[in-house]
Amino acid sequence: MCGIVGYIGENKAQEVILSGLQKLEYRGYDSAGIALLENGEITVTRAQGKLEELKKKFTNTKSKASLGIGHTRWATHGRPSETNAHPHSAGRVSLIHNGIIENYLELKEELEKLGCEFKSETDTEIAAHLLNQEIKNGLEPFEALKATCKKVRGSYAFLAIDKENPDRILVAKNSTPIVIGFSENQKFIASDIPAILNYTKEVLILEDGDIAEIMLDSIKVENDGVLVTRKTQTINWDPVTAQKGGYKHFMLKEIYDQVEASVDTVRGRIKNSKVVFSNIDFSVEEAKSIDRIIMIACGTAWHACLVAKYYFETLAGIPCEVDYSSEFRYRDKPVSKNTLLIPVSQSGETLDTLAATESISKLVKTLAICNVLGSSLSRKVENVIYTQAGPEISVASTKAFTTQLEALYMFALFLGQERGILNKSTIHEKVNAVIKLPAAIAEALKDEEAIKKTAKLFYQSQDFFYIGRGICFPIALEGALKLKEISYIHAEGYPAGELKHGPLALIDEDVPVVVILQKSDVLFEKTLSNLKEVEARGGKIIAITDSPKIDLISSVASVVHSVPFISGDLSPILMTVPLQLLAYYIAVFNGTDVDLPRNLAKSVTVE
Ligand code: G6P
Repeated sequence: MCGIVGYIGENKAQEVILSGLQKLEYRGYDSAGIALLENGEITVTRAQGKLEELKKKFTNTKSKASLGIGHTRWATHGRPSETNAHPHSAGRVSLIHNGIIENYLELKEELEKLGCEFKSETDTEIAAHLLNQEIKNGLEPFEALKATCKKVRGSYAFLAIDKENPDRILVAKNSTPIVIGFSENQKFIASDIPAILNYTKEVLILEDGDIAEIMLDSIKVENDGVLVTRKTQTINWDPVTAQKGGYKHFMLKEIYDQVEASVDTVRGRIKNSKVVFSNIDFSVEEAKSIDRIIMIACGTAWHACLVAKYYFETLAGIPCEVDYSSEFRYRDKPVSKNTLLIPVSQSGETLDTLAATESISKLVKTLAICNVLGSSLSRKVENVIYTQAGPEISVASTKAFTTQLEALYMFALFLGQERGILNKSTIHEKVNAVIKLPAAIAEALKDEEAIKKTAKLFYQSQDFFYIGRGICFPIALEGALKLKEISYIHAEGYPAGELKHGPLALIDEDVPVVVILQKSDVLFEKTLSNLKEVEARGGKIIAITDSPKIDLISSVASVVHSVPFISGDLSPILMTVPLQLLAYYIAVFNGTDVDLPRNLAKSVTVE
């Protein structure tokens, strides 16, 4: 999870930026860098490793610069190295970036034809060159940044400085957060509020599509060519709230982190509309040779595996089975060298998952999905695909789950592509849908207030059922797990078609049924008839849907919450968001300890 800090003002930019970056350390990073502008020259200093390494480089050179930009990078493609660290420079400009430039290879080719030479393996350097080219073509820096953003596809927060215009920092934001702080003689720009809270409490938050020019005495913001004014806000956070990003609980913060985490998880894994995993050692022959996948996990991660079974079978044509780690480790399992074992674990420390992996790791191919670099699991397998969720503090898993789904989806697409099952245009269409995910998650989050009202209506219920079908059946399990974990209310997830084989006997007006209702035609109709069975027994229905047929759903459901539809494959991720918020607010209304629920642990390192 990269961090951004920019500064113009009466203090020393180097000190302000370093202290801001320090506040973002909890997000995790592997290299850092700063560009300072002084006497018409830009000096870029970068270092691999912790901020201490960067600071050492300043031991004998204390800059007096009053303007600069700084970045902490968490490598997702391109090694963690000084060369790949930001800022990246081209001609007059230096630039830092959070996000992904989807079409960076196309842009790189065009720039190479113009004679640009690249030093790093990053997509960010392309943006620096693009900006420099637009300036060379005669555009003012602000106009040049607008022109650059028009050419770039993907998500980004850019900060750029130009040595010919030493009085300003240029900013662009799309799907990646940027906040601007100000005080009388200072302006701050950051990816997160905690980075600048020591200096100012007055901020304005940029919106998607904003391009800004920040000077000591002015903030100019345009969106789609029109000047706009963004509302200023005063942030009154104590240090603990600041750590939680201003949210009341880590869980709520982490639910909101999903927008950025989903950008980070896909970063560097799409090139030229193809899926690439440059950090894993997986040849085409190997992809073709796999004849069976076994996935193992515990808790929420197990639910991610259940969804991924659909991905692997449908997109890669590989039979896939899913087991609880605690069951798998103690059973006989006939496997072959063409079996791929995929353990999935946020922490990489869950004892059952480690033991289950060890029980066959010598006999099969192994690839883990994990969130923690260097964890025990990552050392037990041949390959790891890291989710880029950043640290997850709340015991109830949220962003780790949705990024697991995203990473597993990308890996299934990769296998389908390498095995020749998915053609170019299908891959293109599917990766384009993934690119739209962060914005769609942000859209789903806008329903928070309405979901809070639903929670208020139902928080005293003692039993809940969650139902879904197909790829969203595991999402019903996950929704129920979230609720029971943090609110201590009994909740069961069921395949909608199974209700009549038992649970229907329990349904009455006191038992709310949460349904995950997908747009997909066949399943939509079938699930709707299951809902009629619930309605006939007086059960109250809370529908979560990506279908546009709201009137039809409202005819049976007491409440309907909609999420955007981008593709059937990605519905499980978007449907999860309202379920997380519903569980969260029901727990809040019940007064439980949301982040640290009784009897549960974040990482279960005992059997
Ligand atoms: C615990 C946590 C869950 C998590 C499960 C698996 O039960 O409370 O949130 O899903 O462990 O953890 P892992 O780190 O292996 O994903």
